[in-house]
Amino acid sequence: MTEPYNPKILGFLCNWCCYTAADSAGVGRYQYPPNLRVIRIMCTGRLDPSFPLEGLAGGADAIFVGGCHPGECHYQDGNYHALVSAALVHETLARLGVNRERFLIDWASAAEGPNFVKIITRFTKRAAELGPLGENEGLDPAALRQRLAEAAEFARGRKIRTGLLNAAKEMMKGGDFKRDTIASLVHAKCDKTLAELVGGGAGRGEG
Ligand code: FES
Repeated sequence: MTEPYNPKILGFLCNWCCYTAADSAGVGRYQYPPNLRVIRIMCTGRLDPSFPLEGLAGGADAIFVGGCHPGECHYQDGNYHALVSAALVHETLARLGVNRERFLIDWASAAEGPNFVKIITRFTKRAAELGPLGENEGLDPAALRQRLAEAAEFARGRKIRTGLLNAAKEMMKGGDFKRDTIASLVHAKCDKTLAELVGGGAGRGEG
């Protein structure tokens, strides 16, 4: 029987919830797979959409973002803004032919060590099933990582920034924070610019 793949997972964890949950899970001796490498951020709202793309370009097979539950962000609405960034990451991955399940954003409060363990265990299992980045997708891994690096650069461009800002404004105005609704807003605001990425046209999307 072949050994299951051991995926490299990069995690961006909010200081106030998932990071503490991970800590308390460790103190409580809860077991979870050791595949996660953690970067602590003060709030998921600090997540730039280029970070996960850069993480994948740099060698990760999957990316996890962990934040406070909706309505419990210490900076009010940082996690809703993180959902906007996440929608862009998912859409970019889909356009590059990468399985969107390689990127997950989820919530666990500081007191929810066991919940954090459950989320990471499930995600690690799924990442193992997906295997090395590119393989499951039938794409050349080196070429794909190069494209992801370009996509990260592209995500820092002015046009995408403007699109995301407008999507976030509409989200806050509409008060509907469902993931599907946010994904539609991001699609509507960034579709044309993202087409430049896949078409290979516009460099950093500065236009
Ligand atoms: S402070 Fe945790 S998501 Fe904002």
